[in-house]
Amino acid sequence: MPMQEKPFSQACENNKIPILTVLKRIFAQAKHVLEIGSGTGQHASYFAQHLPHLRWTPSDRPDNHPGIDAWQRAYSGSNLAAVKTFDIRYDPWPEPGADAVFSANTAHIMPWPVTQLMLEKTADHLPKQGLFALYGPFNYQGKYTSESNAHFDQWLKQSNSEQGIRDFEAIDTLANNKHLSLLEDNPMPANNRLLVWQKR
Ligand SMILES: C[S@@+](CC[C@H](N)C(=O)[O-])C[C@H]1O[C@@H](n2cnc3c(N)ncnc32)[C@H](O)[C@@H]1O
Repeated sequence: MPMQEKPFSQACENNKIPILTVLKRIFAQAKHVLEIGSGTGQHASYFAQHLPHLRWTPSDRPDNHPGIDAWQRAYSGSNLAAVKTFDIRYDPWPEPGADAVFSANTAHIMPWPVTQLMLEKTADHLPKQGLFALYGPFNYQGKYTSESNAHFDQWLKQSNSEQGIRDFEAIDTLANNKHLSLLEDNPMPANNRLLVWQKR
């Protein structure tokens, strides 16, 4: 069977530089990042290349592994680990040594109870001072931040009624209850945010 080509996401191409700018600063002291829901594997390869002081472990459900493997094979450095199987609902925490966690565009795709589980498991496994960076669109005070996010939310819910843009306040309350303190809320292009919490 031929090996899969590297999958390409235009959204990842568009957001990788603004995200990296924040990650360079917040992960300056981090040693090992676990990425949840790596998708194409494109972010993992790019961020590992541009954050050479740390190890980056991509993870996802098995159906995304062939694409992530393709990016891993094409990677010339040594700080990008092989993809780990991690479905938040069933699998044990895949990288106990990670002192930081990154996830992009997952909270609105996972059903809300699974998004909650992502927060809870991340909080349970991060060491004190460990960081969780979560990228994506969020609502504030029950309102969309843009017309395009309102359309996106409608489209998400039509595709799957359990999907949808999450409320920042609900996520932050959950995080705070699990000893994660909000450090930063960074505006990102296309009405996205990059939220950063630190374990107390
Ligand atoms: C919209 S994609 C985002 C992919 C990539 N992070 C990006 O920014 O392009 C959503 C990702 O969440 C992952 N995902 C959904 N449910 C999950 C679960 N229960 N456990 C782990 N990952 C999950 C999907 O497999 C997919 O890779």
